[in-house]
Amino acid sequence: MSKTEWPESKRMWERAKRSLSGGVSTGLRAAAKPHPIFFTGGEGATMTDVDGNVYIDYVMGWGPNILGHGNARLVRAVTEQISRGATYGSGHRYEFEAAEALLAIYPDFERVLWSNTGTEADLAALRIARAATGRQRFVKFTGHYHGWSDTMLLGYRSFDGAGGLVPETRGQSADALTQVELVPWGDAAALRALLEKDHDIAAVLLEPVLCNSGVIVPPPQFLQEVRDVCTEHGVVLIFDEVITGLRISPGGAVERFGVVPDMVVLAKAVAGGLTLAAIVGRADLLDLTMQGVTHAGTYNGNPLVLAAAVATMQELSAPGVYEDFERRGARLADGLRAALSAAGLVGAVNQIGPVVQIGIGVERIETTADFFAVDSARYDRVAVALLTRGIFVMPGGRLYLSTAHTDVQIEATITIFTEVLAAEAAGTLAAADAVAS
Ligand SMILES: Cc1ncc(COP(=O)(O)O)c(C=O)c1O
Repeated sequence: MSKTEWPESKRMWERAKRSLSGGVSTGLRAAAKPHPIFFTGGEGATMTDVDGNVYIDYVMGWGPNILGHGNARLVRAVTEQISRGATYGSGHRYEFEAAEALLAIYPDFERVLWSNTGTEADLAALRIARAATGRQRFVKFTGHYHGWSDTMLLGYRSFDGAGGLVPETRGQSADALTQVELVPWGDAAALRALLEKDHDIAAVLLEPVLCNSGVIVPPPQFLQEVRDVCTEHGVVLIFDEVITGLRISPGGAVERFGVVPDMVVLAKAVAGGLTLAAIVGRADLLDLTMQGVTHAGTYNGNPLVLAAAVATMQELSAPGVYEDFERRGARLADGLRAALSAAGLVGAVNQIGPVVQIGIGVERIETTADFFAVDSARYDRVAVALLTRGIFVMPGGRLYLSTAHTDVQIEATITIFTEVLAAEAAGTLAAADAVAS
């Protein structure tokens, strides 16, 4: 049965708008189509909304819920810890047990710093790089996202038409624009040329798989070329593995591509849905926080989230987890490709491990320009139609699998995508599914 209305969600949203700007907790969610949906809970790979509708969830909290919802080991760990206190402002065993678990999967590194969000950890990594090099500015790549700070929210979606930087948000510090050099993703020659003439670059920061703009795997050799040119010029290389970490292999992109940066930033999956971020890196860099580099935070390394991190890493270390991610991710991607082609729609699907990206209206997504050209209005329509049929997806076309997704759910999802894309191609979606907007 197709559901087309969410009366209780709508009612809650109206109420929420009286106390929360836009009725949401993060601005992006206000744009959810047909409107934000309110949930009562999740179980495994499914979520139930306040109208009683059950969905297969591919949002997964925008990535953190790598174990799905209500994983038994995670629930036990968090429940046991909360009864002993949420935060101590002092040491406890989970601090080093979780750090040891991370270092076991990143064997090239010696230290871990705990933080709370990806945004914070990226800023801390950059500060360390500045202190280590005595230089000020940094390089980022077009379309990469490193959080919402003034310093880093640049060159993500807003450009001046000539590849230059413009503020990405109202209220952004003008100084931030002077701190960043933007390089096209995949262009090692451009990076080399920049570092040869500019000697004030402290760090190169990148998403080793460009998940935020199309789930684009780096061109062959690109990461190694970046590594080499950073080494030649004494520039600190930071992999932002907030999405890829613990997800595309146990050791993230470092393990998958065999290229070792100077620091790795982790968040999202690391505590299975609780608020935790980390920097993993070389001791000489991270120990600068004992030599005058401030790395602060009331909640840093609290026992609640670190108990969750230990449980999450234990679950992810079970045999077959990453093989299943790869197999199920590839099956979903193949199914979506077949669905596009059966519908006669031009489109592309990228996938690495449990992360899948679908883009309608482009033949391939290999560059950020390809990704920026996808037909997002069409996908928005598809996403609403999926919602009415029990599939919950993010805007933009990225889907996250968790350890809780089953083969049966993946097959059901492919069947529903096939039906919805065919209806979109036939032009019948708008009439049948846009009623709730
Ligand atoms: C690659 C990457 N870096 C950093 C961030 C910022 O993390 P947070 O939202 O935890 O601040 C995100 C968030 O989506 C991300 O995808």
